[in-house]
Amino acid sequence: MSKPSVLVARKTFDDIVDRLRPHFEVEANDSDTGWSQDELIRRLQGKAGAYIAGGERIDAKLLDACPQLKAVCTMAVGYNNIDVAACTARGVVVTNAPDVLTETTADFGFALMMATARRITESEHFLRRGEWKQWSVTMFAGADVHGATLGVLGMGRIGAAIARRGHLGFGMPVLYHNRSRLPADQEAPLGAQWVEKDELLRRADHLIIVVPYSASSHHLIGQRELRLMKKTATLTNIARGGVVDDAALAAELKAGTIAAAGLDVFEGEPTVHPDLLACENVVLTPHIASATIATRRAMSNLAVDNLIAALTGGVPPTALNPEVVRG
Ligand code: 8YV
Repeated sequence: MSKPSVLVARKTFDDIVDRLRPHFEVEANDSDTGWSQDELIRRLQGKAGAYIAGGERIDAKLLDACPQLKAVCTMAVGYNNIDVAACTARGVVVTNAPDVLTETTADFGFALMMATARRITESEHFLRRGEWKQWSVTMFAGADVHGATLGVLGMGRIGAAIARRGHLGFGMPVLYHNRSRLPADQEAPLGAQWVEKDELLRRADHLIIVVPYSASSHHLIGQRELRLMKKTATLTNIARGGVVDDAALAAELKAGTIAAAGLDVFEGEPTVHPDLLACENVVLTPHIASATIATRRAMSNLAVDNLIAALTGGVPPTALNPEVVRG
């Protein structure tokens, strides 16, 4: 019997792609350039499974054009690029990659928040430009992180890992807002207190955004919300572009409404709003919060585990629509 075919749409570690070969005919993207939607649909013809990342859009139109597709496995935890309901309706299993990136992403979120508060890249740019001629008491004086109030918007796995770092490592009072409040026994080890969103914005010294992107979190932070924040506060976004209104953020940063921002994700990335690029008080990184070799390997391996299980009668470890697997 011939093996089913799968498409690896996003280049990843060769030895991890090789794990698919005993089970499937494999077509793999060997370049870091993603395919256009038409090209993706063309290459998915006759494929039973797809390994993807955050950049591939799996919607009803694609699914209708690829009727043989049975499994879509993303190496990302976020899956706003996948219409899960449309997949479920067509019997397509969808999996994501939670847990394996939690601590790595929390490390990065904390690092970005600290770089923002302590003006690390802004001062480095100044030094590299050869402008450091003398020392002064207030030169690049920023805001303390230790002991300051940490605000976490979105208390999922990554939000909790950041809260834990702030509470245990930096003595930070932790406030959070989430649709649902954590049970008291989960709040206590994080030193975390649930507050309404506006109160979080008013009280946080350092606000970090970790909510998944959806229609209901689109522009969750815009001009109104930024204007509730302290003038001395920082905002860090490691969630998704689109949760923050980037144009409004750039305008408010310029106006001094808040002190600074750290951004790893952007609306329309990899394009970055030109007004953000023009701001000095913003630390910008190219969506790398989960980017350590160990974690990117773990994410890729989990997507491969899911793909193999989904197409060989097994139970995918992290299915988003397990009802499709159960049939
Ligand atoms: C990924 C991420 O690297 O997992 C996620 O949701 O945002 C990142 O960790 C990225 O989405 C891969 O495309």
